[in-house]
Amino acid sequence: MAQAREAHLPLVLGWFDNRLALKSSEGNETPVAVDFSGGKQGYRLAADRVRHERLVKALGGMPTKALNVVDGTGGLGRDALVIAQAGFHVDVIERSPIIHALLADGIERLRREDSALAARLRLHLGDSYQWLVQKDVNPQEYFAIYLDPMFPQRQKSAAIKKDLLWLQQLERAPEEGEAELLLSAARARAQKRVVVKRPLRAPALGDQAPGYSLDGKAIRFDVYLTV
Ligand SMILES: C[S@@+](CC[C@H](N)C(=O)[O-])C[C@H]1O[C@@H](n2cnc3c(N)ncnc32)[C@H](O)[C@@H]1O
Repeated sequence: MAQAREAHLPLVLGWFDNRLALKSSEGNETPVAVDFSGGKQGYRLAADRVRHERLVKALGGMPTKALNVVDGTGGLGRDALVIAQAGFHVDVIERSPIIHALLADGIERLRREDSALAARLRLHLGDSYQWLVQKDVNPQEYFAIYLDPMFPQRQKSAAIKKDLLWLQQLERAPEEGEAELLLSAARARAQKRVVVKRPLRAPALGDQAPGYSLDGKAIRFDVYLTV
């Protein structure tokens, strides 16, 4: 940590409490790791609660047969886990190698606790736009595609939790129109629907009006039906 401070590196990736985690080289904040069993995530994971998650409702409810969903913006995997807990198989795509490494470690620890649930999460390193347009994707293969692009830069404040702020530091700056292209590719690929998480008052991604939205207190899910 001292070396990181001397080199003016704000974040350190390392093993803390047997978990791969990011830690601030200044201050004493709790390291950020992917944690699928403790805290808020554990609460969201309670099986009888998952059906009430707005994200699950936006995906059309609990699946009654095996269905594949792409989570094109993996992040710390919180939403991917909710989708998997609902019973979907999830291809989680994350382009930041560091965030991908955190996710891989979290899924590996989950495997020891609940191997069936962990098996429903398939992690990929890469850009989801490239993945969707280049992969030999069968349009019928993915029931739904879920996107949660970074929150707009102007919200970079106390309104954003520490872990998201740190994720923002790891992310390369998005290119103009990139998220819109991703949405268009997703709409062309998904069998039934695309779901996009947005800040409650933000405009629709790429000004593409959704079919409908499910509003929460601070965020909403925009739902694009493809059939
Ligand atoms: C707001 S976070 C997602 C948070 C996530 N939904 C969760 O529950 O933890 C956005 C993440 O998507 C990743 N990302 C953004 N655009 C991407 C793309 N085109 N392909 C792959 N990953 C992307 C970023 O690196 C970042 O980790």
